[in-house]
Amino acid sequence: MNDGNDVSHERLTLSADEMRRMGYRVIDMLVEHFEQLGDLPVAGGTGRRELERLLREPPPEEGRPPGDVLDRVGRDVFGNMSHVDHPRFFAYVPGPGNFVGAMANALVAGFNPFAGAWATASGAAEIELVTVDWLRDICGLPASAGGTFVSGGSMANLTALAAARHALPEGDIPRAVIYASDQTHSSIDRGARLLGFRRDQLRTLPTDEDFRLPIETLRNAIAADRAAGKRPFALVANGGTTNTGAVDPLPELAALRDREGLWMHVDGAYGAAAALTERGRRALAGMELADSVSLDPHKWLFQPFECGCILLRDAQLLKETFRLVPEYLRDSDLAAEEVNFRDWGVQLTRGFRGLDLWMSVQVFGLEAFRAAVDRGIDLALLAERRLHGSPAWRVITSAGLGIVTFRFTPDNRAERELDEINRRIAGECVAGRHAMLSTTVLRGRTVLRLCTINPRTSDDDILGTIERLEIIGRRIAEG
Ligand SMILES: Cc1ncc(COP(=O)(O)O)c(C=O)c1O
Repeated sequence: MNDGNDVSHERLTLSADEMRRMGYRVIDMLVEHFEQLGDLPVAGGTGRRELERLLREPPPEEGRPPGDVLDRVGRDVFGNMSHVDHPRFFAYVPGPGNFVGAMANALVAGFNPFAGAWATASGAAEIELVTVDWLRDICGLPASAGGTFVSGGSMANLTALAAARHALPEGDIPRAVIYASDQTHSSIDRGARLLGFRRDQLRTLPTDEDFRLPIETLRNAIAADRAAGKRPFALVANGGTTNTGAVDPLPELAALRDREGLWMHVDGAYGAAAALTERGRRALAGMELADSVSLDPHKWLFQPFECGCILLRDAQLLKETFRLVPEYLRDSDLAAEEVNFRDWGVQLTRGFRGLDLWMSVQVFGLEAFRAAVDRGIDLALLAERRLHGSPAWRVITSAGLGIVTFRFTPDNRAERELDEINRRIAGECVAGRHAMLSTTVLRGRTVLRLCTINPRTSDDDILGTIERLEIIGRRIAEG
């Protein structure tokens, strides 16, 4: 029986001294990680059987010393991972986080603000409003635009499609068609499905030789759909494709959008941050005309996962799409100027996501971010120059927004054999754990791909990696 002096809560509490000791240990682990990263193997991890042996157990009834638990986490958990922030991690889209962002997230976890409502965390909401507006300005969207932080590009794309669909009359939904190029990220397909669109309501259009969506192709598809009684309603344009960094012809697409009455979403999850730089802004010209833009600070703005952002030209539309006020939330339904971010997206309970970006920009300054993004663009250009310097390589797509794709073509072999050789080159390189890169398939052919957005990557990291790939390639080709 509880006599009012129950002390069970103390069993979930550390003393101030214990908290400090544990906290300092965590900081030491992180500092060590950031300091030693470049010397660690980039790829790591062991098989399921070994991890089951190390980690499978029922929850312990008795607690263990925090130091022992941290030792285990450092060794068995974080010792078994590929480092997406490693200077030679070039696969997929790297995640080159930063220490300040990590500290911000530690603070957020500790203070645990309920960032869904102004009433519970107005400071957090104001920081998110301010930081979203910074991103809006980077994208060149007007002051009427705004948005919200979400978990990443997939959720940003889903949120944009939901808002676009909300703007469509209910009766038009079964006839509605979304247009996107064959280079569009799979999260658009998934988002459309989640929103209840049938497969045939997403029209995937072939790209040109530069992997961009040709206006003529889109125009013809829209005309054919209208003739068939369909309702063209949304166009997804790429502000940097995942495969090659291609940017669709945004100004022309926006003009077509105006004529056809479409919603234009720009998926800039990975690429939009490049608009911070002069070269990126030129490449992304027209993004500012979009109805919505996805931009992930956890990609090219160097924040820890999960920091994505969806921006809408008309921010109020988010509220119209998502806002529901059940009786148990009426107390916190406040004045219009006080934003409840729970009304702007899928989540009610939501963490405070923008603090990592806000604090990083405060500490380093925006110019440091601009220089870091520029560096990523330069690194891909360096890789391209090196590849052009050797006849064994064919550059498939030149370094656009920090991505270069290429293929080992030492002699006149059948394309199919080259596919296999290039797959093996990537596999052996990754198995060597020195550098991590991935392959992709372009026009049916397997190519190697470097995504170079980590500003801590050195010129030697790039040149040494290509050298290694070439040595592996020659060995395989001769073997
Ligand atoms: C262009 C693009 N869109 C969307 C996404 C999905 O983002 P996330 O993995 O953060 O959900 C990615 C991921 O790489 C991407 O490159």
